[in-house]
Amino acid sequence: MYKLNENNLDLEKIKEAAHMIKQGGTVVLPTETVYGLGADGLNSEAVKKIFVAKGRPQDNPLIIHVCNKDIGKYAKNIPQVANKLIEKFWPGPLTLLFEKEDIIPNDTTAGLDTVGIRMPRNNAALKLIELAGRPIAAPSANLSGKPSPTELKRCVEDLDGRVDIILGGNESEIGLESTIVDCTGERLCILRPGAITLDMLKEFDDEVYIDPGILKKTTVDFKPKAPGMKYRHYAPKAKMKIISGEEKKTIEKIREIVQNYIDANLKVGIMTCDEHIKEYDVECKISLGSNKNLEEISKNLFETLRSFDELDVDIIISEAFEEKGIGLALMNRLKKAAGYEIEFV
Ligand code: TXA
Ligand code: MG
Repeated sequence: MYKLNENNLDLEKIKEAAHMIKQGGTVVLPTETVYGLGADGLNSEAVKKIFVAKGRPQDNPLIIHVCNKDIGKYAKNIPQVANKLIEKFWPGPLTLLFEKEDIIPNDTTAGLDTVGIRMPRNNAALKLIELAGRPIAAPSANLSGKPSPTELKRCVEDLDGRVDIILGGNESEIGLESTIVDCTGERLCILRPGAITLDMLKEFDDEVYIDPGILKKTTVDFKPKAPGMKYRHYAPKAKMKIISGEEKKTIEKIREIVQNYIDANLKVGIMTCDEHIKEYDVECKISLGSNKNLEEISKNLFETLRSFDELDVDIIISEAFEEKGIGLALMNRLKKAAGYEIEFV
């Protein structure tokens, strides 16, 4: 495994990794959202290795990563609005869904006739794609079901020995996976919220909407359009519960619940913010950052879920955060991690 400094790239290491991609191997790579587990997106045999390494369900399609805005070879019927989004937000945390060209194998898209494409905002990733000379298919670099990795050590924990090369970088800048926008319909549709927010997209399509399938727990007859959004995902080992409501009531409720668990001899962890951490008198409490800075909270979420696993807590109680801006993506991941266990006070 090798750690890259994004501002001072070790070209030799990236060349080696690019060679591995061309040979049909697998490479963990840093991106600005979360780490990815990449392989040649045009090579069926290579992408199959991603599914094996992650233990990923076969029906969950991969997105491809490109190093420039020229995507005509991979997608067709690209609407004008999508070109505007590409101009504005690429490179960046935005995956766009189009009808796929035949060059994209069915193994990459899990049999779907659409393909998700994104240009990451990370110099090492861009250089790797450029030197490989082909798009890199990459899901998040975690074992299926675990929180996405935002630090190199988590990729190593999950995938060392299961992939050919781990190219590490710094801590992921955003910490939540990209926003996915379906561009194949009359209106833009958000299939997964992320750092490119609903309000930012409204400037390009005032009728953009959020796939109703991702706002609540999925039922048999109401499935999200992004297959991956249906799995219990981002999940820590411990059971998890979210308390949502006015500040004082939330703190009181959390104290009360925590006492009940302690009385029952269970080890409890509290996930809170800088403003509230002093309010709780337990050993395992972690602040995600200031609740006035939802970007910071988002960036720390997945890593904090993994830290609680290391502390071996039986249950994690989390405060809720405001669902505005990136807060929508943050709460989407938090609710999924908690299996939609949320109590309103
Ligand atoms: O930020 C990201 O998007 C990261 C980094 C590595 O780029 N990648 C990532 O990939 O999060 P993954 O595979 O963990 O999540 C991609 C999601 C899955 O929920 C998948 O079901 C959905 O995108 N998806 C991919 N292709 C799709 C398609 N053609 N139609 C609908 N959903 C699709
Ligand atoms: Mg993932």
